[in-house]
Formats: sequence, C-alpha cells, structure tokens
Amino acid sequence: MTRRTRFFRHPAFRRASFPLLVFTLFWTLALLLLGSIVHATESSLACPDWPTCFGTMMPEMTGGVFWEHLHRLWAGALVLLFVAALLLVRREHPERRDLLRLGVAGVALLLVQSLLGGLTVIHRLPDAISTTHLALAFAFLALLTVMLVRARAPGRTGDDLPARPATPTRRAGMGAAALIFVQSVVGAVVRHTDSGMGCPDVPLCLGEVIPPLDHAVVAIHFLHRTLGLAVAAMVAALAWRILRRDPDPVSRVLALALGVGVVAQLLLGFFSVAYRLAVPLVSLHTLLAAILLALAVALAARAEEPAASGSIPPSPGAPA
Ligand code: HEM
Ligand code: HEM
Repeated sequence: MTRRTRFFRHPAFRRASFPLLVFTLFWTLALLLLGSIVHATESSLACPDWPTCFGTMMPEMTGGVFWEHLHRLWAGALVLLFVAALLLVRREHPERRDLLRLGVAGVALLLVQSLLGGLTVIHRLPDAISTTHLALAFAFLALLTVMLVRARAPGRTGDDLPARPATPTRRAGMGAAALIFVQSVVGAVVRHTDSGMGCPDVPLCLGEVIPPLDHAVVAIHFLHRTLGLAVAAMVAALAWRILRRDPDPVSRVLALALGVGVVAQLLLGFFSVAYRLAVPLVSLHTLLAAILLALAVALAARAEEPAASGSIPPSPGAPA
C-alpha cells in the first residue's frame, strides 16, 4: 500500500464528518485567497451595499463586482459547509464535547466575520475593521485545523483526559503558530496603512540595513520584514526538531512543508516589493501565510494527541 493510499484508508475517513472538514479547510483557504484578491484588485467597494450588491443577490459579475460578490457567495457557502460538518460531527461523535464546543465557537466566529465584512463595506474600509477581518479569518482557520486534527485522533472527549504536560514540540508548535499569526496581522496593517512600499528596495530598506524609522510607513514595513526573519528562525528550529526526533510520518511531512513554505514566503514578500505589489504575488503571500499558520497549528495539535499516529476504533456500524 502506498503512503497516500494508507492516508486515505485511515479509519477517520469512514466517517463523513472528517472528509467534509478537510473539504471545508480547503474551501476556507480559497476564501482567504479571494479576500486578498478583492483588496489587491481594488474591488473592495465594487458592491456599494451589503448584504445585497446593487440591491440584488445576482448582480452582473463583471469587473470588481466579480471578485467582491464571489467572495461574499463563497463566504456564505462556507457558513453552510461548516454548519453541515458540525451537524455530522454531532451525529457521528456525540461523546466528543471538545469538537462540539470548537464547532459552536467556529460558527460564532463566522457570523461575526460576515458582519465585519459587511461593516468594511458600509464604513468604507476603515483600517481597523479591515485588519480585524483578516485576524478573524486566520483565527477561524486555526480553529478549523485543531478540529480536523482532533477529529482524526483516537476516541478522546477532551473532557475526560487528564491535563497533559505540554511537550517541547507542542510548545514550539504553539509558539511558531502564535508568531505567524502576529506577523500576519502586522502584514494586514502594512497593507491597510499603505506601507507596502514603505521600503521600496530589497533586501535593504532605503539603502540601509536599519533605515531611519521616523516615518510610520517605513517603521511598519520594517517591523514586518524583521518579524519575518524571526518567524523563519522559529519555524526552522521547529522543523529541525521534528525531522530529527519525531518518528510520526505525518508530523515529519507537515514539518518539511512548513520549512519549505517559510522560505517561499520570505521570497514572495521580497518579490512583492520588487514587483511593486503585483496582484498575484501579494495574493499568494496572504494564502501562503494562511497555509503556514495551518501547518504550525496542526503540528502543535498533533503533539497534544495521546497517539498521534495511532488509529481510531471504527464507529459502530462502520464497515470493517
Ligand atoms: C458576507 C460576508 C463577507 C463580506 C461582505 C466580506 C467582505 C470583504 C471585503 C469588502 C474585503 C476587502 C477588505 C479591504 O479591502 O479592506 C474582504 C477581504 C477579506 N475577507 Fe471577507 N467578507 C466576508 C466574509 C469573509 C469570511 C467568512 C472570511 C474568512 C473566514 C473572509 C476573509 C477575508 C480575507 C482574508 C480578506 C483579505 C483581508 C486583507 O486583505 O487584509 N471574509 N472581505
Ligand atoms: C514568514 C514571514 C511572513 C508572513 C507570515 C507574512 C504575512 C503577510 C500577510 C498575512 C500580509 C497581509 C496580506 C493581507 O492583508 O491580505 C502581508 C503583507 C505584506 N508582506 Fe508579508 N509576510 C512575511 C514576510 C514578509 C517579508 C520578508 C516581506 C519582505 C519585504 C513581506 C512583505 C509584505 C508586503 C509588502 C505586504 C503588503 C502587501 C500589500 O500591500 O498588498 N512579508 N504579509
């Protein structure tokens, strides 16, 4: 059996809720990409009203309306998908109160997020609301990732397990995830304060290693670059630790992807500046940030499970 076949034959796939959660995760990543394209193509106010677009749910999908309305429809579908996944989780794992609690928090997050999306339009894109919109999107992605990892783990309830001491890998994973999250929010500040070209040159900034920091746009941009290096260092340490010491094959693949991804992200950041914030580059930069966050969260969540590489007992009535 190849490694991929083994992955899909994992008992978790015998339950419909798990593949649906996987699908929802990819749907969410696509939504984040679309959101970033909305801003990068200056389509954010293409629909001047909310929740309708020019008074209808079926506007002509041309120009900026295409991206803005597609983003809204995609977001609506995400709410439906996630609620469907939660109902399935409740049916298939009635004892898993930890998953149900995460799911309810996720629905609440999505509703607030949709409201914030509407407020960005109604209030004409205030920086604070646009930045919070990105932060909540990333928080939802992190929550969904934890749900997914836990849904694949052996039957645990989250309530009846004794508190487990945090392993060094788990601590390092959580640290990396937290730093990627902070860096992403700083990235959104860069974007929404128009600091993207605060340092117009790469790899130096205004021709210096440390530029004069008395202008806000330069200081914000420079902070984002510096934090980027800190993220890379922390991720490299985490990936190295797992690749050297962790026998779990899934964690090793995730760690390798995280290590390669962070290098690609630094390059994308540099190219975004070199090519003056070209739409494909900055949009991929947001998407890759989200993927890095999901990978780091997944590694931390796997390290918390009692037997990350073990299998779950089949559910009653499931084919053997
Ligand atoms: C109907 C609900 C929603 C509306 C009306 C909406 C609207 C918008 C608008 C107008 C922008 C551009 C903001 C700007 O240029 O400053 C945007 C960006 C974005 N949206 Fe939404 N949105 C909705 C739901 C969601 C959901 C549910 C998510 C994710 C869970 C999401 C994720 C994002 C992301 C990641 C961005 C890019 C933010 C950035 O560039 O900093 N949106 N959205
Ligand atoms: C691992 C490190 C990094 C992460 C996780 C990260 C993440 C992000 C995120 C999430 C955004 C906001 C996009 C949005 O609001 O949709 C952003 C913006 C930005 N980042 Fe990074 N970034 C990293 C490193 C870098 C580096 C090294 C540079 C190099 C100069 C850079 C340059 C930029 C620029 C110019 C923007 C603004 C894009 C715009 O105005 O559209 N980033 N970053």
